[in-house]
Amino acid sequence: MNLSELVQKFEDAGQGHVFRFFTKLNETEKTALLQQATEINLAEISSLSLEWQETGLLSEDYSDLAPAPYIQHPASGGDESFWGQASALGEEGLRKGRVAAFTVAGGQGTRLGYNGPKGTFPSTPVKGKSLFQVFSEKIRASSDRYGNVIEWLIMTSIQNDAETRAFFKVHDFFGLNCRHVHFFTQGLMPAVDTSGKILMSSKGRIAMSPDGHGGSLRALVRSGHVQRLLSKGVDTISYFQVDNPLVQCIDPAFIGFHIKERAEISSKMVQKAYASERVGHFCVQNEKQVVIEYSDLPKELQEKLHPETGELLYPAGSIAIHILDLNFIARVGGGNDPALALPFHFAQKKVSCIDAAGSLFSPLEPNGIKFEMFIFDSLPLAKRSVIIETRREDEFSPIKNASGQDSVTTSKRDQSAQHIRWLKTAGEDVNDLETIEISPFCAQTESEFIKYWQALDPKPLLKDGMYLNLNDNLCSKQRL
Ligand code: UTP
Repeated sequence: MNLSELVQKFEDAGQGHVFRFFTKLNETEKTALLQQATEINLAEISSLSLEWQETGLLSEDYSDLAPAPYIQHPASGGDESFWGQASALGEEGLRKGRVAAFTVAGGQGTRLGYNGPKGTFPSTPVKGKSLFQVFSEKIRASSDRYGNVIEWLIMTSIQNDAETRAFFKVHDFFGLNCRHVHFFTQGLMPAVDTSGKILMSSKGRIAMSPDGHGGSLRALVRSGHVQRLLSKGVDTISYFQVDNPLVQCIDPAFIGFHIKERAEISSKMVQKAYASERVGHFCVQNEKQVVIEYSDLPKELQEKLHPETGELLYPAGSIAIHILDLNFIARVGGGNDPALALPFHFAQKKVSCIDAAGSLFSPLEPNGIKFEMFIFDSLPLAKRSVIIETRREDEFSPIKNASGQDSVTTSKRDQSAQHIRWLKTAGEDVNDLETIEISPFCAQTESEFIKYWQALDPKPLLKDGMYLNLNDNLCSKQRL
């Protein structure tokens, strides 16, 4: 499309102001603006703006809501042998090379306020390993354990992509084979004002922001990785966020349940810590599994108790850990079937932008609407979906905030506590231990640790502040 056609298209959509200062731009700025403008789906923006104006602030009807069923963890009464069978099935899938890992790392991390991609943030209690190093080591240890390559996909954003790639390069991919680590950027959406006009961050730039972790499904398809992996026999993706160092990146039982149930998306839940905890709630609505955010679910439903047990009626909190089927991703992310498109959520935010005269201003109140997709909105689109329970202390302690709850302090505390628990279960006296770190190459779960510890001879003297490690080069096989 040539320039005048593009400008006309924007004019027709009531967005002609995007080119208001075009003639004042230099050639580089002109090219950049044209590039941005070509990628914008004007029809999508116009219908989203309309939707926001009409329904954005209305509340949903939750009259037919019910709690979602989930598979109980053995620690809370689940069937141990059932979990054992699932693990065996997952391990078989891993040995056959059916599984890839996937991290969404395109967020802006504004709450943490850290200057750099969040994955580069030092996160472990003793060694201060970056989040990316933690996941690299876990994936590498799992690849060794199951004797097969586990490819790792990392979704970045245009803002942090170059820095993320450089970080891995400087650290020699933490021992992973760089051919098996794949970066790709997520999509962007323009921010609009409350009347649906696209906001400009400067005379030559549209104010764009990442399209949410749900945008990962589109981005996975667009990047070509879905087709590439499918053609190699990989059909299952283990999805996790960049901010949770406790996550089991590759969990055979979870993968096994997903395979056994022939699910298209599977999810992990934890018991909510308290009624109003700020997590998504797994529910059933219109006979489909859904996640309803704490901000959307009415308080009385968050607090409602089961009439017989007296426990929370909606106890299942989402921790953003999923297994996805690649063919499902191809369908949802492919964009060919409007019925399978993820909905956009609206967030009213302060967006620095220029006014009609071209002067930049930073608003004191929210002036813009940002559009984001959420991964959990794919649950109701799936033909089959399964939820399993996990223990919070084993798997969820995200680093979201600079201090207080869900900060690096609470996460380091929880990582140490997990490793101290393992030692205690292995029969050690842990009374003097407060801070300790165990390398994923020794073990990634309690049962792995017990085996490792029992076989370790001689055992090291336990000291507070210690890092328990194998020689990484010895314990991990050559780069697969
Ligand atoms: P959060 O919801 O915590 O958002 O993302 P955030 O942008 O990282 O942090 P704040 O809200 O600005 O403080 C949860 C996960 O989803 C990824 C993040 O990188 C994180 O792993 N994410 C989020 C994306 O990959 N893209 C997005 O557009 C948003």
